[in-house]
Amino acid sequence: MTGSMTVESQSTSGYGEAKPAGTVVLAYSGGLDTTIAIKWLKDTYNMDVVATIIDVGQPGKDVQNAVDKAGDIGAARAVAVDVKDEFVEEYIIPMLKANAKYEGKYPLATAAARPLISKKLVEVAKEHGATHIAHGCTGKGNDQVRFEVSIMALAPDMDIIATAREWQVPREVAYEYAENHNMKLDIAKKSPYSIDENLWGRSVECGSLEDPSLEPPEDAYQWTTDPMKAPDNPQYLEIGFEEGVPVSVDGIPMPATQIIEQLNNVGGRHGVGRIDMVENRLVGIKSHEIYEAPAAEILIQAHEALEDLTLTREQLHFKKGLEQKFAEMTYYGLWFDPLTDALMAFMDKTQETVTGTVKVKLYKGSCTVVGRSSPNSLYDKGLATYDEDDTFNHQLAKGFIALWGLPVKVSKLTRVNQ
Ligand code: ARG
Repeated sequence: MTGSMTVESQSTSGYGEAKPAGTVVLAYSGGLDTTIAIKWLKDTYNMDVVATIIDVGQPGKDVQNAVDKAGDIGAARAVAVDVKDEFVEEYIIPMLKANAKYEGKYPLATAAARPLISKKLVEVAKEHGATHIAHGCTGKGNDQVRFEVSIMALAPDMDIIATAREWQVPREVAYEYAENHNMKLDIAKKSPYSIDENLWGRSVECGSLEDPSLEPPEDAYQWTTDPMKAPDNPQYLEIGFEEGVPVSVDGIPMPATQIIEQLNNVGGRHGVGRIDMVENRLVGIKSHEIYEAPAAEILIQAHEALEDLTLTREQLHFKKGLEQKFAEMTYYGLWFDPLTDALMAFMDKTQETVTGTVKVKLYKGSCTVVGRSSPNSLYDKGLATYDEDDTFNHQLAKGFIALWGLPVKVSKLTRVNQ
């Protein structure tokens, strides 16, 4: 696996008498569902389990600890693969270029990580000669679709085991099973939420969020300060872009991964990036979910502002429609569909002029663009101004309007009843 860091541990625990019936690579997170899945897979399928943690920038995740734990529970091997930079370069940057937000709100952190995780699981499976890949997604969500469609695309012969879908146990029972089998879980027992995190954002559902008429309790938010308790003074940041890619903060050049981490911290401190929405899942269910995505919120706003300045009206308006399509392709698990690739090529072409800096103001939950500049700016002060430096020929407007309105006028003149 080029460019990825891999940590491995091999278990010493035995399998009893039965010879394992092959190898299965499990998408393992260290959380409840995938922890119990290790033992369940071993017991149910009698296979060697390769527990695989794909690190997409889950903050505070103790990867080594999870790797060790997987070995203790009985994984034949535990593997951790750091794909943060690949996630940023190949997934987050294309999404940023497309200002991708599902249904105009959700910046797609979870959705975009799934195809990359699938890609790495396939690589690990091939390395270990595995015939099966397992994931712990339920049968009600989008993630099962994203994993399985991606795996189908990348390794059509791979068999897939959906542990939670096959072994439908209520959360309480799952906790009991974990306890009875001495599995140490880092998550607080009874955590009412289902959480997924990576560099691009945090997704939270379940618990009292299941009633969309209620305000989400404060404990559902972890990355962002309550805007009411955020600092009383605004903070300004200047973000530099080159061809649509963020390259600096306040004039200091840094890799995009670091920019995202920094903006998650600074934005989070100012309560920026809380999203509360009812969304339409691919499987036909409406769900109420909250997201925290400070960096995504700031970067997409800043990027859009720079596009407003540097793209022509036609580029900008046409792009908006394709942005929505791109967001849907990502949400629907179709990252590896050739259309996604074609849309990315379109987005890339539009980014050639998107270079410059954008100033944003973070203040008590809001992020506001307060300045933008670019060497490729299409803003012409002479054309825009209402003062004496005006260079616009007002007289041309008369003929323009006559022709622009002509079809409307003709339609009214020729159709008597309208
Ligand atoms: N609804 C989001 C999506 O489909 C997030 C799913 C995962 N959320 C979670 N809380 N576990 O992309």
